[in-house]
Amino acid sequence: MASVAHTAPSAAPTAGAHAISIEGAAKIYRVSGGAPVEALRPTHLDLQPGEFVSLVGPSGCGKTTLLKLISGLDDITSGRVAVGDRIVTKPDPSVSVVFQRPALLKWYTVEQNVLLPAKVAGTLTKEVRQRAIDLLDFIGLGDFRHRYPSELSGGMQQRTAIVRALAGEPQVLLMDEPFSALDEFTREVLHDELLRLWSEHPKTVIFVTHNIAEAVYLSDRVAVMAPRPGRIEQIVDIELDRPRTPELRTDPRFFELVSDIRSCFHQAGALGGND
Ligand SMILES: Nc1ncnc2c1ncn2[C@@H]1O[C@H](COP(=O)(O)OP(=O)(O)OP(=O)(O)O)[C@@H](O)[C@H]1O
Ligand SMILES: [Mg+2]
Repeated sequence: MASVAHTAPSAAPTAGAHAISIEGAAKIYRVSGGAPVEALRPTHLDLQPGEFVSLVGPSGCGKTTLLKLISGLDDITSGRVAVGDRIVTKPDPSVSVVFQRPALLKWYTVEQNVLLPAKVAGTLTKEVRQRAIDLLDFIGLGDFRHRYPSELSGGMQQRTAIVRALAGEPQVLLMDEPFSALDEFTREVLHDELLRLWSEHPKTVIFVTHNIAEAVYLSDRVAVMAPRPGRIEQIVDIELDRPRTPELRTDPRFFELVSDIRSCFHQAGALGGND
């Protein structure tokens, strides 16, 4: 194994000291007529403000489950999650989620889609509108504000979803395989755009992906997950300089990290041929 720092998932943190504190969070799904599913074993992880952490692992290892516990979209079975000082019990505007499919309303324009959450929450001000317009400009969608989703490419739709998630100035951005439906070229362009957005508008990010190279390129740390039961097996520090640039993709240190993380999966017996 090469020169990366591997750390075991950290000990239970103190709520409030971190941007996100995951303290023994666990999820068991009760399935009618079947055995309970341990989707996530008690899990500890804390994130510093502005940190970018990826969760990588094969299907069914609890990545989406963990995001749902952090976003309050699902009830926790035991343990707790804190975002800043707030113990998560329900969804909150301080945490935004971007899903694999952008889920835009087809009868709304790009701008209307982006402003919809603020409108529904009753928080749509002139400032929120201006921030959304600025973000659309920043990500190259300024000229498409009044277009409809069907008139956009997949990459442009996902950019719209990202701006929608950021328009309310959340503290935390959760991304669940946001680029997996895109072609490789668009995906790489979006990696750089996401990192540019993140450096201009710092947020604590948890990014879920099946793609190890994507996780390494984007992240400060990568949490390697394994299934049955879902768990964080290992956390790998990505000690690569920022800003990350496309040249990094051919850098031996990059390959070394990707191959180290792949080895973590083999050690955990977590690769079932789908990664
Ligand atoms: N609502 C639910 N009811 C019952 N079991 C569930 C439910 N949601 C998830 N599970 C189970 O929990 C486990 C973890 O699922 P989860 O969706 O978190 O995995 P994942 O890592 O996101 O997988 P994928 O990469 O396929 O998206 C799986 O075994 C799944 O079948
Ligand atoms: Mg999932």
